[in-house]
Amino acid sequence: MEIITTVSAMQSIARDMRRSGRRIGFVPTMGFLHDGHLELMRAARKKSDVLVASIFVNPTQFGPNEDFECYPRDAERDQSLCESVGVDYLFFPPVEEVYASDASVYVDEEQLSVGLCGGSRKGHFRGVLTVVAKLFNMVLPDVAVFGQKDAQQAALIRRMVRDLNFPIDIVVAPIVREPDGLAMSSRNAYLSDSEREQALWLSRSLQLAESMVAAGTFAAHELECAMRDFLAINASEVELEYIAIVDAVGLQPLEAVEGETLIALAARVGKTRLIDNIILNPELG
Ligand code: PAJ
Repeated sequence: MEIITTVSAMQSIARDMRRSGRRIGFVPTMGFLHDGHLELMRAARKKSDVLVASIFVNPTQFGPNEDFECYPRDAERDQSLCESVGVDYLFFPPVEEVYASDASVYVDEEQLSVGLCGGSRKGHFRGVLTVVAKLFNMVLPDVAVFGQKDAQQAALIRRMVRDLNFPIDIVVAPIVREPDGLAMSSRNAYLSDSEREQALWLSRSLQLAESMVAAGTFAAHELECAMRDFLAINASEVELEYIAIVDAVGLQPLEAVEGETLIALAARVGKTRLIDNIILNPELG
């Protein structure tokens, strides 16, 4: 595995690969890797001839009171994990390499980014879409893999690729969970033992909604109320930010679960903000 730290080196390798007819697979990350990230790399590996992963903690997607400074980092461990899943090139640029000090062009999305996490994290998705567009131009991938864990991000990236005509296949891979159901996240490292116990109720509340839908309850308000009650009773330390029941592609609110439906939530457990979601499709049984 080769570690690349400059944009010019990354682009010249990517151009060579493309000229020689090799298909480039790409997985962008912010590092502190866990099995959720590694699954994306394994999936990308299967769909490409050359696998590029990036590690870049992107300052523009963090708000002023968020955790950019203390976001967990472990470069050495990340490098060996990337190597273990067959990454060929690890792109690991410093901030100055990615952003000019007077950068003034951004990617803004105006519909899917408004609700859900966009409601409380102003400017977050502008930062995400801008850095992903830039990384696409640096790595020149044929296929890029993202995680369903960040459902709104994945939907926004599909929308950006469609609306700006990036010639890239986007693959969204399922959420990888701990054996007890907690969605893997680099931010789980912030949780104390008792906070982690509380956090478990988030995935359980999604399972509750899933079983209610399987038993024939489709009304969004009934599902949301049941999830809220369930969390209030079992997890008093969980401070819910939102529960959204929306169509999985356009993220528009639904009155009833119908077709591909995304149930997504965000909550604070102590100081840690966590997200989780589930996709239901009752028509498929
Ligand atoms: P990061 O949080 O490091 O996540 C990188 C990728 O891993 C994202 O596509 C995310 O959805 C996926 N991922 C994280 N946890 C997962 C899990 N438990 N199961 C499956 N996939 C999981 O998302 C970002 O970084 C950034 O916003 C980025 C896209 C790199 C732009 O800066």
